[in-house]
Amino acid sequence: MKTVQRCDDCGTELGPGDTAMACPKCEGLLSLVYEAPAEHGEALRARFDSRASSVAAATGVDASGVWRFRELVLPDVDSADVVTHPEGNTPLLARDSVAQWCGVDTLLMKHEGANPTGSFKDRGMTVAVTQARRVGASAVACASTGNTSASLAAYAAHARLPALVLVPSGQVSLGKLAQSLAYGAKTLLVRGDFDACLRLARDAAEKLGVYLANSINPYRIAGQKTIGLELLQQLRWRAPDWIVLPAGNLGNTSAFGAALREAVALGLIERLPRIAAVQASGAAPFAASYREGFRERHTVRADTVATAIKIGDPASYSRAVRVIRETNGVVLDVPDAAILDAKAIVDASGVGCEPASAASIAGTRELVSRGEIKRGERVVAVLTGHVLKDPGILLDYHKEASRTKYANAPTEIDADLGAVERVLKLSRTAR
Ligand code: F0G
Repeated sequence: MKTVQRCDDCGTELGPGDTAMACPKCEGLLSLVYEAPAEHGEALRARFDSRASSVAAATGVDASGVWRFRELVLPDVDSADVVTHPEGNTPLLARDSVAQWCGVDTLLMKHEGANPTGSFKDRGMTVAVTQARRVGASAVACASTGNTSASLAAYAAHARLPALVLVPSGQVSLGKLAQSLAYGAKTLLVRGDFDACLRLARDAAEKLGVYLANSINPYRIAGQKTIGLELLQQLRWRAPDWIVLPAGNLGNTSAFGAALREAVALGLIERLPRIAAVQASGAAPFAASYREGFRERHTVRADTVATAIKIGDPASYSRAVRVIRETNGVVLDVPDAAILDAKAIVDASGVGCEPASAASIAGTRELVSRGEIKRGERVVAVLTGHVLKDPGILLDYHKEASRTKYANAPTEIDADLGAVERVLKLSRTAR
């Protein structure tokens, strides 16, 4: 069997080079289906592990934490076509202060902010831009809350493809907007929200023939699966009890579900971890549907400080419902104040992350307080983006010391030693 694209809903199959982003018959989401590797279990683990152990000296596809798993990403790819930075190989970090704040013994943070453009999007983008090159695309495009656009801009530059990015005007953080301009993408500030940008990008792909790199593109999801595969590998293929991740457009929730499903089917791990998808309370249509047993699909007008997940009508809704059901997962929402406090805790541990990423830490704490996550369970929280993505929100939090819980306000002084000494004394007495 060659790789095909198959509709999740009606099973219609399209060729691997078809650039439709939805099923032509029923508009369902498309998934990549490929021949499973001949090896299973121990043999497949050994193949992936031998590539990981030589990563420091590797070049090309073997240096990438995405393409290391190529049998489960795009098995029939020719490595000469691959557009890789390289990406992935992100750390799994333990910090006692963060675990304590959440109320668990074992908390590991999978820090996707260590990717080349500072977010997990690079894992899907290396595959989507590779595929754009394989189908001879003349230009690539995406709608974004900022990270997808930063990533697409960088990978398109690497592939020497023109990139068009559509972002909601005035709602993208400084670091992300700066990246898109720096890497040379044609950047459109759309008067509207993310959901409007995505509709427009889908239209542009369909009618103007540009290649769409949003997560409805099955090649994006194929690459994003490797966050899950890589973290299982780092845990020596012993599944954690929980994987907690921030949720916006639900591409990542879908990708995690696909990765875990395949990992069990191929004997890489023995059981499924539970997935917890965390939304911001002002942008929580998925959490609202979950509370009603997914009887209805909700949309909202989104509003949150975590602009990365400010999304009211998530495109991968149906896939994510399946993932939550299959993994006995949960969906919850946390208020902005809790997200910002969680971020301050992660930042003060020296790890640092962007606001949306901290939703996974705030969500872990909330689930522990509800008794859903037990203190002794092993939890992996995914930090999706780098601390410098959104310096504006960070500075506001620390400058408003009277209103925020964990502020570290700067102190302005005259240029004399006495002033330095006074500050030093004060901070010693504060400890
Ligand atoms: N965390 C960060 C930092 C993100 O940028 C996003 C999504 C998510 C979490 C949520 O992932 O959408 O797959 O559920 N950012 C997209 C973007 C929407 O355009 O960069 P999701």
